[in-house]
Amino acid sequence: MQAPEHSLRITRPDDWHLHLRDGDALRWTVPWSAAQFARAIVMPNLKPPVVDTAQALAYRDRVLAARPPGSDFEPLMTLYLTDRTAAQEIARARASGAVHGVKLYPAGATTNSDSGVTDLRLVRPVLEAMQREGMPLLVHGEVTDPEVDVFDREAVFIERHLQSIRRDFPALKIVLEHITTSHAVDFVLAHDARDARGAPLLGATLTAHHLLHSRNAMFRGGLRPHYYCLPVLKRESHRRRLLDAACSGDPRFFLGTDSAPHARGAKEADCGCAGCFSAMHALELYAQAFEQAGCLSRLEAFASHFGADFYGLPRNRDSIELRRQPWSVPDSLPYLDTRIVPVDAGTELGWRAVCDAASQQQA
Ligand code: DOR
Ligand code: ZN
Repeated sequence: MQAPEHSLRITRPDDWHLHLRDGDALRWTVPWSAAQFARAIVMPNLKPPVVDTAQALAYRDRVLAARPPGSDFEPLMTLYLTDRTAAQEIARARASGAVHGVKLYPAGATTNSDSGVTDLRLVRPVLEAMQREGMPLLVHGEVTDPEVDVFDREAVFIERHLQSIRRDFPALKIVLEHITTSHAVDFVLAHDARDARGAPLLGATLTAHHLLHSRNAMFRGGLRPHYYCLPVLKRESHRRRLLDAACSGDPRFFLGTDSAPHARGAKEADCGCAGCFSAMHALELYAQAFEQAGCLSRLEAFASHFGADFYGLPRNRDSIELRRQPWSVPDSLPYLDTRIVPVDAGTELGWRAVCDAASQQQA
Protein backbone atom coordinates (compact mmCIF):
# COMPACT_ATOMS: atom_id res chain seq x y z
CA MET A 1 0.00 0.00 0.00
CA GLN A 2 1.19 3.48 -0.84
CA ALA A 3 2.03 5.83 2.05
CA PRO A 4 -0.50 8.68 2.33
CA GLU A 5 0.52 12.03 0.92
CA HIS A 6 1.46 14.68 3.45
CA SER A 7 1.04 17.63 1.21
CA LEU A 8 -1.07 18.37 -1.79
CA ARG A 9 -0.66 21.35 -4.12
CA ILE A 10 -3.53 22.23 -6.40
CA THR A 11 -4.39 25.06 -8.77
CA ARG A 12 -6.03 27.81 -6.74
CA PRO A 13 -9.74 27.01 -6.58
CA ASP A 14 -12.82 29.17 -7.15
CA ASP A 15 -16.11 29.10 -5.28
CA TRP A 16 -18.97 28.95 -7.77
CA HIS A 17 -21.69 29.65 -5.17
CA LEU A 18 -21.14 31.98 -2.22
CA HIS A 19 -23.08 34.29 0.10
CA LEU A 20 -20.99 37.26 1.26
CA ARG A 21 -23.88 39.36 2.70
CA ASP A 22 -23.42 43.13 2.77
CA GLY A 23 -22.46 46.12 4.91
CA ASP A 24 -20.24 45.46 7.92
CA ALA A 25 -20.40 41.69 7.31
CA LEU A 26 -18.25 42.07 4.19
CA ARG A 27 -15.16 43.00 6.22
CA TRP A 28 -15.51 39.62 7.81
CA THR A 29 -16.78 37.35 5.03
CA VAL A 30 -14.60 38.54 2.16
CA PRO A 31 -11.21 37.79 3.80
CA TRP A 32 -12.25 34.22 4.59
CA SER A 33 -13.13 33.44 0.98
CA ALA A 34 -10.20 35.45 -0.40
CA ALA A 35 -7.81 33.34 1.68
CA GLN A 36 -8.69 30.17 -0.23
CA PHE A 37 -10.41 31.14 -3.46
CA ALA A 38 -9.36 33.32 -6.38
CA ARG A 39 -12.90 34.06 -7.53
CA ALA A 40 -16.43 33.49 -6.36
CA ILE A 41 -19.89 33.66 -7.84
CA VAL A 42 -21.56 36.01 -5.36
CA MET A 43 -25.22 35.39 -4.61
CA PRO A 44 -27.62 38.34 -4.93
CA ASN A 45 -30.10 37.54 -2.11
CA LEU A 46 -29.39 40.69 -0.11
CA LYS A 47 -32.06 42.76 1.61
CA PRO A 48 -33.13 44.32 -0.78
CA PRO A 49 -31.95 41.93 -3.52
CA VAL A 50 -29.53 42.82 -6.32
CA VAL A 51 -31.96 43.08 -9.22
CA ASP A 52 -30.13 45.08 -11.87
CA THR A 53 -26.68 45.72 -13.30
CA ALA A 54 -26.22 49.06 -11.55
CA GLN A 55 -26.88 47.41 -8.19
CA ALA A 56 -24.58 44.51 -9.02
CA LEU A 57 -21.76 46.91 -9.90
CA ALA A 58 -22.28 48.89 -6.69
CA TYR A 59 -22.29 45.66 -4.66
CA ARG A 60 -19.14 44.55 -6.47
CA ASP A 61 -17.42 47.77 -5.40
CA ARG A 62 -18.40 47.13 -1.77
CA VAL A 63 -16.99 43.59 -1.96
CA LEU A 64 -13.75 44.83 -3.56
CA ALA A 65 -13.39 47.47 -0.84
CA ALA A 66 -13.60 44.74 1.81
CA ARG A 67 -10.67 42.73 0.42
CA PRO A 68 -7.64 42.45 2.67
CA PRO A 69 -4.63 44.50 1.55
CA GLY A 70 -2.87 42.85 -1.39
CA SER A 71 -5.71 40.44 -2.19
CA ASP A 72 -6.71 39.97 -5.82
CA PHE A 73 -9.91 38.06 -4.98
CA GLU A 74 -12.41 38.62 -7.79
CA PRO A 75 -16.14 38.71 -7.09
CA LEU A 76 -18.23 37.48 -10.03
CA MET A 77 -21.61 39.11 -9.68
CA THR A 78 -25.13 37.77 -10.23
CA LEU A 79 -28.60 39.28 -10.65
CA TYR A 80 -31.65 38.19 -8.73
CA LEU A 81 -34.45 37.21 -11.10
CA THR A 82 -37.88 38.60 -10.24
CA ASP A 83 -41.29 38.57 -11.92
CA ARG A 84 -40.47 42.09 -13.13
CA THR A 85 -36.94 41.61 -14.48
CA ALA A 86 -36.76 43.30 -17.90
CA ALA A 87 -35.37 41.21 -20.77
CA GLN A 88 -33.26 44.23 -21.81
CA GLU A 89 -31.43 44.06 -18.49
CA ILE A 90 -29.63 40.93 -19.67
CA ALA A 91 -27.75 42.69 -22.47
CA ARG A 92 -26.74 45.42 -20.01
CA ALA A 93 -25.57 42.79 -17.53
CA ARG A 94 -23.59 40.96 -20.18
CA ALA A 95 -22.02 44.18 -21.48
CA SER A 96 -20.86 45.11 -17.97
CA GLY A 97 -18.47 42.17 -17.96
CA ALA A 98 -19.06 41.91 -14.21
CA VAL A 99 -22.29 39.89 -14.14
CA HIS A 100 -21.83 36.17 -14.71
CA GLY A 101 -25.22 34.69 -13.97
CA VAL A 102 -28.83 35.31 -13.07
CA LYS A 103 -30.19 33.53 -10.02
CA LEU A 104 -33.63 31.98 -9.98
CA TYR A 105 -35.14 31.70 -6.52
CA PRO A 106 -38.68 30.36 -6.56
CA ALA A 107 -40.48 32.91 -4.33
CA GLY A 108 -40.34 31.78 -0.72
CA ALA A 109 -37.96 28.86 -1.30
CA THR A 110 -35.18 30.05 1.02
CA THR A 111 -33.47 32.95 2.83
CA ASN A 112 -34.38 36.33 1.28
CA SER A 113 -36.28 34.79 -1.60
CA ASP A 114 -39.53 36.73 -1.08
CA SER A 115 -38.90 38.75 -4.24
CA GLY A 116 -38.22 35.59 -6.25
CA VAL A 117 -40.18 34.27 -9.19
CA THR A 118 -43.83 33.39 -8.51
CA ASP A 119 -44.56 31.89 -11.92
CA LEU A 120 -41.92 30.78 -14.40
CA ARG A 121 -44.12 31.78 -17.33
CA LEU A 122 -43.52 35.41 -16.36
CA VAL A 123 -39.78 35.17 -16.96
CA ARG A 124 -39.74 33.39 -20.30
CA PRO A 125 -38.71 36.55 -22.23
CA VAL A 126 -35.80 36.97 -19.79
CA LEU A 127 -34.75 33.34 -20.26
CA GLU A 128 -34.84 33.86 -24.02
CA ALA A 129 -32.58 36.91 -23.66
CA MET A 130 -30.23 34.92 -21.43
CA GLN A 131 -30.07 32.11 -23.95
CA ARG A 132 -29.23 34.64 -26.67
CA GLU A 133 -26.58 36.42 -24.59
CA GLY A 134 -24.98 33.27 -23.20
CA MET A 135 -25.88 34.34 -19.65
CA PRO A 136 -26.08 31.36 -17.26
CA LEU A 137 -29.23 30.68 -15.24
CA LEU A 138 -28.35 29.66 -11.69
CA VAL A 139 -31.17 27.68 -10.16
CA HIS A 140 -32.28 27.17 -6.59
CA GLY A 141 -34.13 23.99 -7.50
CA GLU A 142 -36.89 23.56 -4.96
CA VAL A 143 -40.67 23.87 -5.24
CA THR A 144 -42.38 25.92 -2.58
CA ASP A 145 -45.71 24.06 -2.70
CA PRO A 146 -46.49 23.41 1.00
CA GLU A 147 -48.13 20.12 0.00
CA VAL A 148 -44.75 18.78 -1.11
CA ASP A 149 -42.62 17.12 1.56
CA VAL A 150 -39.55 19.24 2.35
CA PHE A 151 -37.25 16.33 1.45
CA ASP A 152 -38.89 15.95 -1.98
CA ARG A 153 -38.78 19.59 -3.05
CA GLU A 154 -35.72 19.29 -5.26
CA ALA A 155 -36.92 16.16 -7.06
CA VAL A 156 -40.34 17.72 -7.66
CA PHE A 157 -38.80 20.97 -8.94
CA ILE A 158 -36.80 19.02 -11.50
CA GLU A 159 -39.87 17.14 -12.64
CA ARG A 160 -42.32 20.05 -12.66
CA HIS A 161 -40.08 22.90 -13.84
CA LEU A 162 -36.50 22.12 -14.77
CA GLN A 163 -37.30 19.49 -17.37
CA SER A 164 -39.39 22.01 -19.31
CA ILE A 165 -36.89 24.88 -18.95
CA ARG A 166 -34.17 22.56 -20.29
CA ARG A 167 -36.39 21.49 -23.18
CA ASP A 168 -37.72 24.97 -24.08
CA PHE A 169 -34.34 26.74 -23.88
CA PRO A 170 -31.93 24.15 -25.22
CA ALA A 171 -28.99 26.55 -25.58
CA LEU A 172 -29.43 28.22 -22.18
CA LYS A 173 -26.54 27.59 -19.80
CA ILE A 174 -27.95 26.27 -16.54
CA VAL A 175 -26.34 25.53 -13.19
CA LEU A 176 -28.44 23.49 -10.79
CA GLU A 177 -27.06 24.84 -7.52
CA HIS A 178 -26.16 22.91 -4.39
CA ILE A 179 -27.65 19.63 -5.52
CA THR A 180 -28.76 17.21 -2.82
CA THR A 181 -30.38 14.20 -4.49
CA SER A 182 -29.77 11.33 -6.85
CA HIS A 183 -32.57 12.85 -8.97
CA ALA A 184 -30.44 15.95 -9.53
CA VAL A 185 -27.38 13.86 -10.42
CA ASP A 186 -29.47 11.84 -12.88
CA PHE A 187 -30.92 14.99 -14.41
CA VAL A 188 -27.46 16.44 -15.03
CA LEU A 189 -26.08 13.17 -16.39
CA ALA A 190 -28.99 12.91 -18.83
CA HIS A 191 -28.02 16.19 -20.56
CA ASP A 192 -24.75 16.19 -22.36
CA ALA A 193 -25.21 19.14 -24.73
CA ARG A 194 -22.27 21.54 -25.08
CA ASP A 195 -21.95 25.20 -25.99
CA ALA A 196 -19.89 26.54 -28.91
CA ARG A 197 -16.70 26.35 -26.81
CA GLY A 198 -17.37 22.71 -25.97
CA ALA A 199 -18.31 23.50 -22.36
CA PRO A 200 -21.35 21.82 -20.81
CA LEU A 201 -24.70 23.59 -21.10
CA LEU A 202 -25.87 22.05 -17.86
CA GLY A 203 -23.82 21.76 -14.69
CA ALA A 204 -24.29 21.48 -10.95
CA THR A 205 -22.52 22.77 -7.87
CA LEU A 206 -21.95 20.61 -4.81
CA THR A 207 -21.41 21.90 -1.28
CA ALA A 208 -18.96 20.34 1.15
CA HIS A 209 -21.67 19.83 3.76
CA HIS A 210 -23.89 17.89 1.37
CA LEU A 211 -20.91 15.69 0.46
CA LEU A 212 -20.01 15.06 4.10
CA HIS A 213 -23.37 14.72 5.81
CA SER A 214 -26.70 13.04 5.50
CA ARG A 215 -29.80 14.37 7.25
CA ASN A 216 -28.85 12.35 10.32
CA ALA A 217 -26.37 15.15 11.11
CA MET A 218 -29.29 17.45 11.92
CA PHE A 219 -30.58 15.07 14.60
CA ARG A 220 -27.45 13.54 16.14
CA GLY A 221 -28.21 13.39 19.88
CA GLY A 222 -30.59 16.34 19.58
CA LEU A 223 -31.58 19.08 17.18
CA ARG A 224 -28.53 20.59 15.48
CA PRO A 225 -29.47 23.85 13.79
CA HIS A 226 -26.02 24.47 12.36
CA TYR A 227 -26.62 21.64 9.90
CA TYR A 228 -29.86 23.17 8.70
CA CYS A 229 -29.61 24.57 5.18
CA LEU A 230 -31.72 24.62 2.06
CA PRO A 231 -32.05 22.42 0.20
CA VAL A 232 -32.05 20.40 3.40
CA LEU A 233 -29.60 17.51 3.85
CA LYS A 234 -31.00 14.26 2.48
CA ARG A 235 -30.72 10.56 3.27
CA GLU A 236 -27.40 8.69 3.09
CA SER A 237 -28.09 7.06 -0.29
CA HIS A 238 -28.38 10.53 -1.86
CA ARG A 239 -25.18 11.69 -0.20
CA ARG A 240 -23.37 8.73 -1.74
CA ARG A 241 -24.61 9.61 -5.21
CA LEU A 242 -23.41 13.20 -4.73
CA LEU A 243 -20.00 11.98 -3.66
CA ASP A 244 -19.84 9.64 -6.67
CA ALA A 245 -20.70 12.57 -8.94
CA ALA A 246 -18.07 14.82 -7.33
CA CYS A 247 -15.43 12.11 -7.62
CA SER A 248 -16.39 11.01 -11.12
CA GLY A 249 -14.19 13.49 -12.95
CA ASP A 250 -17.24 14.59 -14.93
CA PRO A 251 -16.80 18.32 -15.70
CA ARG A 252 -20.49 18.99 -15.13
CA PHE A 253 -20.02 18.75 -11.36
CA PHE A 254 -17.98 21.43 -9.62
CA LEU A 255 -17.36 23.21 -6.32
CA GLY A 256 -19.81 25.71 -4.84
CA THR A 257 -19.68 26.06 -1.07
CA ASP A 258 -23.01 27.84 -0.54
CA SER A 259 -21.29 29.20 2.56
CA ALA A 260 -24.14 31.21 4.07
CA PRO A 261 -23.28 33.02 7.30
CA HIS A 262 -25.94 33.60 9.92
CA ALA A 263 -25.17 34.84 13.44
CA ARG A 264 -25.46 32.17 16.09
CA GLY A 265 -28.64 33.68 17.55
CA ALA A 266 -30.37 33.62 14.16
CA LYS A 267 -29.81 29.87 13.89
CA GLU A 268 -30.36 28.87 17.51
CA ALA A 269 -33.87 30.32 17.57
CA ASP A 270 -37.57 29.43 17.53
CA CYS A 271 -37.46 29.72 13.75
CA GLY A 272 -33.81 29.29 12.83
CA CYS A 273 -32.34 30.49 9.54
CA ALA A 274 -31.17 28.09 6.84
CA GLY A 275 -27.49 28.20 5.93
CA CYS A 276 -24.14 26.67 6.86
CA PHE A 277 -21.01 28.79 7.23
CA SER A 278 -18.11 26.96 5.58
CA ALA A 279 -15.94 29.65 3.97
CA MET A 280 -13.29 29.51 6.71
CA HIS A 281 -12.46 25.85 6.06
CA ALA A 282 -14.10 25.05 2.74
CA LEU A 283 -11.14 23.39 1.04
CA GLU A 284 -10.36 21.33 4.12
CA LEU A 285 -13.95 20.06 4.23
CA TYR A 286 -13.88 19.11 0.54
CA ALA A 287 -10.50 17.41 1.02
CA GLN A 288 -11.98 15.44 3.90
CA ALA A 289 -14.92 14.30 1.77
CA PHE A 290 -12.75 13.37 -1.22
CA GLU A 291 -10.24 11.53 0.93
CA GLN A 292 -12.95 9.56 2.71
CA ALA A 293 -14.23 8.53 -0.72
CA GLY A 294 -10.71 7.54 -1.81
CA CYS A 295 -10.59 10.07 -4.63
CA LEU A 296 -8.35 12.88 -3.39
CA SER A 297 -6.65 12.93 -6.79
CA ARG A 298 -9.92 14.19 -8.27
CA LEU A 299 -10.17 17.20 -5.95
CA GLU A 300 -8.18 19.59 -8.12
CA ALA A 301 -10.29 19.32 -11.25
CA PHE A 302 -13.52 19.56 -9.24
CA ALA A 303 -12.33 22.55 -7.20
CA SER A 304 -10.18 24.43 -9.68
CA HIS A 305 -10.83 23.45 -13.31
CA PHE A 306 -14.40 22.46 -14.11
CA GLY A 307 -16.16 25.59 -12.83
CA ALA A 308 -13.89 27.95 -14.74
CA ASP A 309 -14.33 25.84 -17.89
CA PHE A 310 -18.10 25.89 -17.47
CA TYR A 311 -18.22 29.69 -17.12
CA GLY A 312 -15.76 30.21 -19.98
CA LEU A 313 -13.17 31.84 -17.72
CA PRO A 314 -9.46 31.07 -17.60
CA ARG A 315 -8.26 28.59 -15.01
CA ASN A 316 -6.21 30.18 -12.23
CA ARG A 317 -2.46 30.11 -12.65
CA ASP A 318 -1.40 30.16 -9.02
CA SER A 319 -1.77 27.31 -6.56
CA ILE A 320 -2.59 26.52 -2.96
CA GLU A 321 -1.13 23.91 -0.66
CA LEU A 322 -3.02 21.56 1.60
CA ARG A 323 -1.05 19.90 4.41
CA ARG A 324 -1.99 16.81 6.33
CA GLN A 325 -2.17 18.52 9.67
CA PRO A 326 -5.07 17.55 11.92
CA TRP A 327 -6.80 20.53 13.54
CA SER A 328 -10.07 21.20 15.27
CA VAL A 329 -12.71 23.47 13.79
CA PRO A 330 -13.40 26.19 16.40
CA ASP A 331 -16.67 25.99 18.33
CA SER A 332 -17.48 29.52 17.26
CA LEU A 333 -15.91 32.68 15.86
CA PRO A 334 -16.55 36.39 16.32
CA TYR A 335 -19.06 37.68 13.73
CA LEU A 336 -20.08 41.35 13.67
CA ASP A 337 -20.96 42.11 17.30
CA THR A 338 -21.90 38.50 18.02
CA ARG A 339 -20.63 35.02 17.13
CA ILE A 340 -21.05 32.45 14.39
CA VAL A 341 -20.77 28.66 14.46
CA PRO A 342 -18.94 27.16 11.47
CA VAL A 343 -20.11 23.90 9.98
CA ASP A 344 -18.54 20.91 11.76
CA ALA A 345 -17.61 23.10 14.74
CA GLY A 346 -15.55 21.18 17.27
CA THR A 347 -14.66 18.31 14.94
CA GLU A 348 -11.20 17.34 13.75
CA LEU A 349 -10.24 17.73 10.09
CA GLY A 350 -7.23 16.00 8.58
CA TRP A 351 -6.12 18.69 6.11
CA ARG A 352 -5.20 22.31 6.54
CA ALA A 353 -4.96 24.83 3.70
CA VAL A 354 -1.83 26.95 3.76
CA CYS A 355 -3.28 30.33 2.97
CA ASP A 356 -1.71 33.26 1.28
CA ALA A 357 -0.45 35.72 3.95
CA ALA A 358 -2.06 38.71 2.21
CA SER A 359 -5.48 37.14 2.52
CA GLN A 360 -5.20 35.81 6.06
CA GLN A 361 -8.17 36.46 8.24
CA GLN A 362 -7.43 38.76 11.14
CA ALA A 363 -10.50 37.79 13.16
O1 DOR B 1 -29.27 27.32 3.32
C1 DOR B 1 -29.32 28.26 2.56
N1 DOR B 1 -28.94 29.50 2.94
N2 DOR B 1 -29.80 28.08 1.33
C2 DOR B 1 -30.03 29.11 0.51
O2 DOR B 1 -30.49 28.88 -0.57
C3 DOR B 1 -29.78 30.50 0.94
C4 DOR B 1 -28.78 30.56 2.01
C5 DOR B 1 -28.71 31.90 2.71
O3 DOR B 1 -28.70 32.93 2.01
O4 DOR B 1 -28.65 31.94 3.93
ZN1 ZN C 1 -26.95 29.73 -1.76
